[in-house]
Amino acid sequence: MLAVYFDQPGGPENLYVKEVPKPHPGRGEVLIKVSAGALNRMDLLQRSGKYPSPKGANDILGLEAAGLVAGFGPGCKGQWKTGDTVMALLSGGGQAEYVTVPEGHLMSIPNGIPFVQAAAIPEDWLTAFQLLHFVGNVQSGQTVLIHAGASGVGTTAIQLTRLAKAIPIVTAGTQEKLKLAAKLGAAAGFNYKEEDFTERVLEFTNGSGVDVILDCIGVIVYGLLGGGEVSWRSACKLHSKRGKKEQVLPYFSQDGSPPVQPIIDSVYPLHRIVEAHRTMEENNNLGKIIIEMPPSS
Ligand SMILES: NC(=O)c1ccc[n+]([C@@H]2O[C@H](COP(=O)([O-])OP(=O)(O)OC[C@H]3O[C@@H](n4cnc5c(N)ncnc54)[C@H](OP(=O)(O)O)[C@@H]3O)[C@@H](O)[C@H]2O)c1
Repeated sequence: MLAVYFDQPGGPENLYVKEVPKPHPGRGEVLIKVSAGALNRMDLLQRSGKYPSPKGANDILGLEAAGLVAGFGPGCKGQWKTGDTVMALLSGGGQAEYVTVPEGHLMSIPNGIPFVQAAAIPEDWLTAFQLLHFVGNVQSGQTVLIHAGASGVGTTAIQLTRLAKAIPIVTAGTQEKLKLAAKLGAAAGFNYKEEDFTERVLEFTNGSGVDVILDCIGVIVYGLLGGGEVSWRSACKLHSKRGKKEQVLPYFSQDGSPPVQPIIDSVYPLHRIVEAHRTMEENNNLGKIIIEMPPSS
């Protein structure tokens, strides 16, 4: 099968697509034929050598994927059948034509959601929901300041904040990003490169400040864009988020017009993985970057 690979840590130019053995599902694991994966900041950190794949994790890049159930390891409980459309949060391996996943980590793709959108759901939607409701305990009427408002997590957090009947306020680095945030429901947005957002937020809230801050640089810490080392990949991701899917996925399953949507910046075919990494590294993405597998695979 084809998979994204790099021999030495470094820049995006080190990435290439290579033929590797198709994985065999182990006990309790399901084989997924990946249709689309998503790019995450963690992939960039791993590629540059700042966050090597944890021991025992798949060292192919890719922390989330959507596709079809294609096989079973021994001991599966019969919860899934061949051809089911599924998505999953992974400990690695999503940027490849096949990946194996413990069966309990799979989620059904809500009706009508195409693979390229489904691949954008597991990481950001479970994270934003967890941050708002379990860490921030956001309540109706409260104000939530969301930094990087046009990021994958940011675009999701704006929508979930509105659903919680709270008031999202964002910061972002360009006017285009602020416009997207406003379209998604941000009540106010400030370009932190051009104005003092702390003053503007105080003005907007009549001096009372905000109730919750989601910051991928450093208040409720859920990211490491500024660098550093923390071992949260497996712990935070695979365990604490699993229970949130029951609360998040129904938003996508509503007939007619679901109240939320994953925001897709761009869809890159697998062989353009280098460009995909560059786009994210240059902070140019508005929403999620998707990596699509070759159609004939
Ligand atoms: N804990 C978890 O489970 C979890 C889950 C998902 C994501 N994360 C983390 O959350 C962070 C955001 O992820 P994402 O996927 O939403 O990101 P993203 O879509 O790639 O967007 C990141 C945005 O953050 C802003 N930014 C501000 N300072 C930055 C800096 N020093 N370096 C890079 N970007 C900076 C940029 O937008 P502006 O132009 O507006 O500044 C950039 O476009 C990452 O650190 C990621 O690893 C954590």
